Amino acid sequence: MDGCPKGDVTLKKMAYDLVIIGSGPGGYSAAVRAGQYGLKTVIIEKAPKLGGTCLHVGCIPTKALLHSAEVWDYFTHAEEQGVSCENPRLNYPAVLQRKSTIINKHAKGVEMLMKKNKVEVIWGFGKIVGPGQVDVQTSEGTRRLETKNIMIATGSEARMIPGLTPDADRILTNIEILNLTAVPKSLAIIGAGAVGVEFASIFKRFGSEVTVLEMLPRVVPVEDEDVSKELEKYFRKIGIRVETGAKAANIQRTEAGVSLEVTLANGKVETLNVEKLLIAVGRKPNTESIGLENTRAELDRGFIKVGPDQQTAEPGIYAIGDVVAGTPQLAHVATAEGLIAVAKIAGKNFTPIKRNRIPGATYTEPGIGSVGLTEAQAKAQGYDVKVGKFPFVGNSKATILGHHEGFVKVVSDAKYGEILGVHIIGPHGYELIAEAVAAMEAEATVDTMINTIHAHPTLYEALGEAFNSVYGQAINF
Ligand code: NAI
Repeated sequence: MDGCPKGDVTLKKMAYDLVIIGSGPGGYSAAVRAGQYGLKTVIIEKAPKLGGTCLHVGCIPTKALLHSAEVWDYFTHAEEQGVSCENPRLNYPAVLQRKSTIINKHAKGVEMLMKKNKVEVIWGFGKIVGPGQVDVQTSEGTRRLETKNIMIATGSEARMIPGLTPDADRILTNIEILNLTAVPKSLAIIGAGAVGVEFASIFKRFGSEVTVLEMLPRVVPVEDEDVSKELEKYFRKIGIRVETGAKAANIQRTEAGVSLEVTLANGKVETLNVEKLLIAVGRKPNTESIGLENTRAELDRGFIKVGPDQQTAEPGIYAIGDVVAGTPQLAHVATAEGLIAVAKIAGKNFTPIKRNRIPGATYTEPGIGSVGLTEAQAKAQGYDVKVGKFPFVGNSKATILGHHEGFVKVVSDAKYGEILGVHIIGPHGYELIAEAVAAMEAEATVDTMINTIHAHPTLYEALGEAFNSVYGQAINF
C-alpha cells in the first residue's frame, strides 16, 4: 500500500520540529532560520549537493556566464573606451570552469551554514507519508522521520513542448545549455520569458547567431509593454533575430543540429536550421511523487495552494517557492516564503508576501528591474494613472558607461501620488530597482522620492528624474 513502511524502513524515534524537503534558496534559508530559532530541523536533498536549481542550474551559473560574456564584450569593444586590446581570445572551457568553481564554492557554503545552524542533512528523495511523517529513500534504504512540521520546497523543472525530449546535445533546457563545451554557431530559443532572453543575451555576446521565437505578441510578456518594446528594439539592434507571434512545429534533429518549422506572425512558414535549440517555455512545479496524495493539501493546476502563513490545507504542512500557486517562480520569493513559514512555526511575528512588492530582475542587456503594477494593470484596476518616464540618454553615468539604452518608468496614482509600480530597463536595471522596492515598502509617495537626494553622477539618479517626470519636471531631459 502506498505510504506504508517498506520492508527496510528504519523508524527514527527522535521527532523533529521541522523536516524541509528541498535545499534550494527557499529550503536552505528556511533551515538556517529554523536553526537560529532553535528548532530541531532536518533538510532532505535528492541531488548530490545542496543549493537547488538556483545555485546549480539557474540564477548563479547563468549570471556567472553573463559576467564572463560582459568581460568578453568589454575586451572586444575596448577601443571605444580608449583602450587598445589586440587579439582578445575567448577561452570557453575556462569560462565553464569558472562557473563550476563558483557553484562548488557556494554549495560548500550552504553545507557549512547547515552545520553552523545545527541543521541535519539527509541525502535522498523525500516523500510525505502523512501529516508528521516523511520517508527518505537514501542509498542505504528508506528512513522514516517523525516531525511536527513539514515544509515542501521541492522547486520546479523546465516544461517541455509536448512530444519533444531534450538531449544533452542539440535540444536543450536551462540545464544542458550550461554545459555546452563550445559556443554554438547558431542558437534558436523558443520562449522569450526570463530564461529565453537571458540566454539570448549571453550567447549573442559570446558570438552565436541567436533567434528568439515567442508565441505571444511581445518578449518578456510579464513586464510593462514599454519594457518589452525597448528590449525587442535593442535585441534587433545588436543582431538578435526576434520573432513574436511565432509558432514552432515539426522540430527535428538533423545531421548538423536541429531544424524547425516556424510560422511567423505574418503567416509565412519558414524552415529554420540551427546548431542548438533551447526550450524556455516555463517551468512546472515538482509536486509529483512527493506524497501530496497522503495529505489534504490542495492543488491549483499542479501548484500547491497556501494561506498567508504558507500553510497548506493540511495543518503542519507548509509549501514555499516554485511549487506554490499564485506567486512568481523566483529565488527571492522562495526565500521570503520560507522565512514566513518558519516564523509561523516558531510562533514569531511575520508579514505575508505582498504580491506587488516583489522585485523582478532579468539579467539581459539592457537589464530589467521591475516592481508593482504595470501601466496597463494600474489602468485596468481603475487608478487615475500618472506616468513619469526618464530615458538613460539623459543620465551622465550611462553616457560614461556607454550604455544609453532604456528608461525608468514610474506608474503612480494621481490622487495621492502613490507609487503603484516602477519599471526599469537600462544599465544595471536589475540592481537599480532596489530603491523603488524600498520606497514602495516604506509607502513613500512620488513627492517623497522627489525630495530624496540622489548622488551625482550615478545611474540611480535616473530614478529621481523619473519621479520628477510624473510632474513633467525632470531636469536633464
Ligand atoms: P516564462 O513563463 O517566464 O516564459 C516562457 C515564455 O515562453 C512565455 O513568454 C510564453 O509565452 C512562451 N512560450 C510558451 N510556449 C511557447 C511555444 N510553444 N512557442 C513559443 N513561445 C512559447 O518561463 P521561463 O522563461 O522558462 O522562466 C521560468 C520561470 O523562472 C519564470 O517564472 C521566470 O520568472 C523564472 N526565472 C527568473 C529569472 C530571473 O528572475 N532573472 C531567470 C530565469 C527564470
